[in-house]
Amino acid sequence: MKIKTLKDFSLKNKRVLVRVDFNVPLDEKGEILGDFRIQASLPTIEYLVREEVKVVLMSHLDRPGGKFVERLKMDKVQERLSEYLDLSITKSPAYYSKELENWTYKMSPGEILLLENLRFWPGEERNDEEFSRNLAKLGDIYINEAFASSHREHASIVGVPKFFQQKGIGLLFEKEIKALDRLLKKERKNFLVIVGGVKKSKVEFLKTILNKVDLVLTGGLIARQLPKELRENPKIILPEDVVSCSDLERPNSIEIKPFKEVDEKEFIPDLGPKTIKRYQRYIQKAEKIFWVGPLGYYEVDLFCRGTKMIGESILKNKNALSVVGGGNLLLALKKLGLRNKGFSHLSTGGSALLEYVSGKELPGLKVLENN
Ligand code: 3PG
Repeated sequence: MKIKTLKDFSLKNKRVLVRVDFNVPLDEKGEILGDFRIQASLPTIEYLVREEVKVVLMSHLDRPGGKFVERLKMDKVQERLSEYLDLSITKSPAYYSKELENWTYKMSPGEILLLENLRFWPGEERNDEEFSRNLAKLGDIYINEAFASSHREHASIVGVPKFFQQKGIGLLFEKEIKALDRLLKKERKNFLVIVGGVKKSKVEFLKTILNKVDLVLTGGLIARQLPKELRENPKIILPEDVVSCSDLERPNSIEIKPFKEVDEKEFIPDLGPKTIKRYQRYIQKAEKIFWVGPLGYYEVDLFCRGTKMIGESILKNKNALSVVGGGNLLLALKKLGLRNKGFSHLSTGGSALLEYVSGKELPGLKVLENN
């Protein structure tokens, strides 16, 4: 089903309500740790400004649970966005009021309004109809630019677009699905998946993609969580050796040992040298590579080696189509200076990315069909 994209609309002077994903990682004071998602949304916002649109942006930030949380206000996002665009941005403390609605009509073409964190109101996660109806009054056209949130059946993703005749996806969303569709096409062989990180949902993901891929390389923590049937599947490669330690704060407890000999109570903060070498050989033969999740405890320099060497190895294989994603992996690659060194596609998605690649329909896309 054809889904409309930004360039299908006549936009000039219209009020365009854009669902972005500005859910960026924050430190305990609410400072932004990584703004990749903000940067990734710039082409759409700049396009709208050039087209003389009245731009209304809305996003969630973290999980405040339907109530106001000072640390999770959108102020830091507003500041960062304004710096990138070199434009002033107005922030609304409310998600809706009659005055706000009137104000959107009076905005000048090219002006930008950012709504407060949508998850301050319970209606967002409950997909409340009244909440959606009110939000929808702030735009003439609805654009979903939040690929990373489109697996959620929340108001701004699935409720609001129902009130629009004119709706579609933004430039980033379009780029994401084009890259992923290329990855999932059958033509190339040697489809290699690399899975690290800590999210348990990746185990389910592995079950659903095994029939589409040739080989899966696993990081230590994920390998540990795999059920027997996956551990014994010949397509799934477990680490041969790993870095293990009983206390992450005490480097003298670190040793390199066979994965099979690591005690349940020990940490596995990185891949071991034999595993890295073996994984590098697989990577050089691959034609398509999908990598999610760092392969070690990348926050500590001492444990970055696996992630770094695997990243460099992927970049060395110039013939492979490489898609990497997930918030932590992108932060790790940035830290290692590899993020912008030539991966075919960097995805802003986390769970949404896994769902799309495993073939599930994203509710946020489905609701934009038939228009
Ligand atoms: C993400 O970071 O995966 C999206 O922004 C969705 O956030 P959520 O998992 O809190 O719904």
